[in-house]
Amino acid sequence: MARRLAAAYNWFDERTAIRSLLRKGLYEAVPVRGAWFYTLGSATLILILLQLITGIFLTLLYVPSVTEAWASLNYLKQHDAFGAIVRGIHLWSAYILLFVIGLHMVRTFFSGSYKRPRELNWITGVGLFVLVLGMAITGAFLPWDQAAYWTAVVVTNIPAYIPFIGSFARALWRGGDFVGPITLSRTFGIHVWLLPVILFPLIGAHLALLRKHGEFGSYINYRGAYRSREGVDVPPAPQQRPIEPPYPALPTDELWAAPLQTEDFYPHQTFKDGVVSVGLVILVFILAVGIGAPLEAIADPSTTSYTPVPEWFFLPLDELLLLVPQQLIPLVLVLPAGGVLLLLALPFIDRDAERNPFERPAVMVPGAFAVLFVVILTLLGSGRLFNL
Ligand code: HEM
Repeated sequence: MARRLAAAYNWFDERTAIRSLLRKGLYEAVPVRGAWFYTLGSATLILILLQLITGIFLTLLYVPSVTEAWASLNYLKQHDAFGAIVRGIHLWSAYILLFVIGLHMVRTFFSGSYKRPRELNWITGVGLFVLVLGMAITGAFLPWDQAAYWTAVVVTNIPAYIPFIGSFARALWRGGDFVGPITLSRTFGIHVWLLPVILFPLIGAHLALLRKHGEFGSYINYRGAYRSREGVDVPPAPQQRPIEPPYPALPTDELWAAPLQTEDFYPHQTFKDGVVSVGLVILVFILAVGIGAPLEAIADPSTTSYTPVPEWFFLPLDELLLLVPQQLIPLVLVLPAGGVLLLLALPFIDRDAERNPFERPAVMVPGAFAVLFVVILTLLGSGRLFNL
């Protein structure tokens, strides 16, 4: 049996060169320092794949129509235990994904990993963040229960604040002046086709860039390793380096060209990645079985008594809208777009080679305030999730 398998593997390898591809993939040099922080990227990837698999299962049953959508999910809830768990996994892995992708972004920001030559790693990452948010927002419309319907009413109104083309953009998404059947089919199309068709190739580009430059963006791969007794950063002599550039690709500053401590991706980093990803998948499964995915009463546009509760990832924006005076609301809605533009421009604004966060106060202080602002707004609004 073993000989047959080996022969089949050799046959396959002769035609695909799979052996050398695997060797290249598994024995890549990766950082020793901060390895647990590097598990956030692979955890993001695993959670997205979980979304894809459970999403395919859900499309086998879900009907994107205002008369059938709620009924198809209610059928899962009442009569299909497996389907209900799959729906629960889809929801909870989306929630945890948003949290983990946020942490991955914060870690690459604070460690200075967006600096030359990794500007495009960062820019593709910002694109992925926006797309993942878009998946979460469009997904929230699909159950067509009360929560979904009122979320659709509020969210599809946001494009109306775009200067000049606002009303057109809102009508385009809604398929008319009001939220209705066309809004649901359009949003379903965006959720299962448009966004994934952009998202998955962009993940491929993000990972290809990562492999090109190595995972050595973070300052901790260099700091201390290059510190001489006098406290002056001195790059080690070429013969003292375990690996040579391009880590990162040239041209770049000599100081940030070659990290001192590296190890093989397999088995070191793969083990840590595995521990974190398996832990998160188990957590998702426990939440999916223990809490599941809620389904409120079917959407009723005529109701006047329903108090909509925003999705938790909308809380910072929602809380801000409550706090500011009426005249400033359009300005608050411009804030996320401005934030994304600022993030895209970050590697070109902060061009200094220094990556140590303690030596970059001009970027670290506003960055820390922005993170704190989002956390405080979320905490302030969190009471509403439980109708407090
Ligand atoms: C679908 C979403 C994403 C996936 C699957 C993903 C995956 C990964 C993986 C596996 C790594 C290597 C391990 C690690 O550093 O954790 C990585 C590195 C990186 N990611 Fe992401 N990422 C995503 C989103 C983002 C976002 C939102 C940003 C920031 C805006 C970002 C910026 C970066 C940067 C700059 C690196 C290079 C880090 C270094 O060399 O030290 N990524 N990503």
